[in-house]
Amino acid sequence: MTSDIAQSLSVTGPTRLVGRLEVPGDKSISHRAILLSALADGRSSLRGLSDGADVGHTLAAVIALGAEVASTDDGVRITGGRLRPADQVIDVGNSGTGIRLLAGVAAGLAFRTELDGDASIRSRPMDRIATPLRLMGAEIGGPSGGAFAPLVISGGGLHGIDYSTPVASAQVKSAILLAGIAADGTTVVREPAVSRRHTEEMLLARGADLTVDGTTTSVRRSALKPLDESVPGDPSQAAFWIAGAAAVPGSEVTITNVYLGAARDGFLDVLRRMGAELHVISEAGGAFAVQVRGTQLRATDIEPEEVPGLVDEIPALAVAAALAIGVTRIRGAAELRVKESDRIATIAEMLTGFGVRVAEHSDGLDITGGSSLQPARVDCHGDHRIAMAAAIAATAAPGSSRIDGFDAVATSYPAFADHLALLSVGA
Ligand code: S3P
Repeated sequence: MTSDIAQSLSVTGPTRLVGRLEVPGDKSISHRAILLSALADGRSSLRGLSDGADVGHTLAAVIALGAEVASTDDGVRITGGRLRPADQVIDVGNSGTGIRLLAGVAAGLAFRTELDGDASIRSRPMDRIATPLRLMGAEIGGPSGGAFAPLVISGGGLHGIDYSTPVASAQVKSAILLAGIAADGTTVVREPAVSRRHTEEMLLARGADLTVDGTTTSVRRSALKPLDESVPGDPSQAAFWIAGAAAVPGSEVTITNVYLGAARDGFLDVLRRMGAELHVISEAGGAFAVQVRGTQLRATDIEPEEVPGLVDEIPALAVAAALAIGVTRIRGAAELRVKESDRIATIAEMLTGFGVRVAEHSDGLDITGGSSLQPARVDCHGDHRIAMAAAIAATAAPGSSRIDGFDAVATSYPAFADHLALLSVGA
């Protein structure tokens, strides 16, 4: 999947970002659309799925589990409802959403499923899903006893639980809800803060017996209906263009067809506080166009309670902070340490390379912005969002920067370098 993406990307700055484009389909919605279509009895048509390798792995996973998947002119058709044991270990690649949501699905299936992924996936905590899924009656094992991938899941015979998650995590909530639609009784998930709500919205659209009350979600055993769905553009990918353009005077970018639902639009509030010139225009089908004009930004504080609503956008916001006058403080973001890389460490290393003063904290960063960036050589540590953030930072640094391990973008945004070339205009 990574073959046609350069292993290293060279970027010569400074450039402005100018133009209009559409980003790939939302990754979170794409995973869920595939899984729910595989569970629904009948034929679903999906358009606009993310073309990244993560979602490709989830598509391969449902095929391995017996769903029928056919390409259409503009997407895929999935015939689901009759899943059977996979005759191989399911490989989720680099995808945390893939493995945790598949674990929830597998917990509801009355057979054994093995899930594994790459080295990054094997280092990410799985006890957060193993614990509640076991309480529901699933057996979760593997070489580490289910604390880390590979996971061996024997599902079926589940019963509902009333579970309070220690962290606001849409992946954990979703794993429990996906098991909950196959469980006897009522499954209740209580979260400390609102996390993204795609699973709830998409289960409801497919007829699930589900209610949401603030940060509490309840679900009962449900048969899902198939659905035709168009996946809107990914705000987490749009955030790189929006944050990068917002921070550089002379930039002017419009990103169309962006999803901006619950817990996905927090980055726009942060950028507005920093003085960004943003216009959000509602479009057909519930998506939005975001127009941004570059200006000199100023620092802000990103508070712990905001983090669940912008957790994936922190690498992009960190670049904006590096270009903003003053010290931006990010706190309550310890979850960044267990993403595709330890993002507190990898953001700090990346920005330090560009000559930015950064202080690392256990749960966040202090970024002193406003000085001119110097060109850098960056190691992405296998993390797609570090690769994209570094590329955006490089456009603001006068001279030639090199981003090693850039091909990590294949997991979520294979066309990122093409889009960068499309939008880049000499300063
Ligand atoms: C996701 C939830 C978030 C996010 C991830 C996608 C999802 O993870 O960081 O990229 O699709 O549910 P957590 O649930 O660990 O917060």
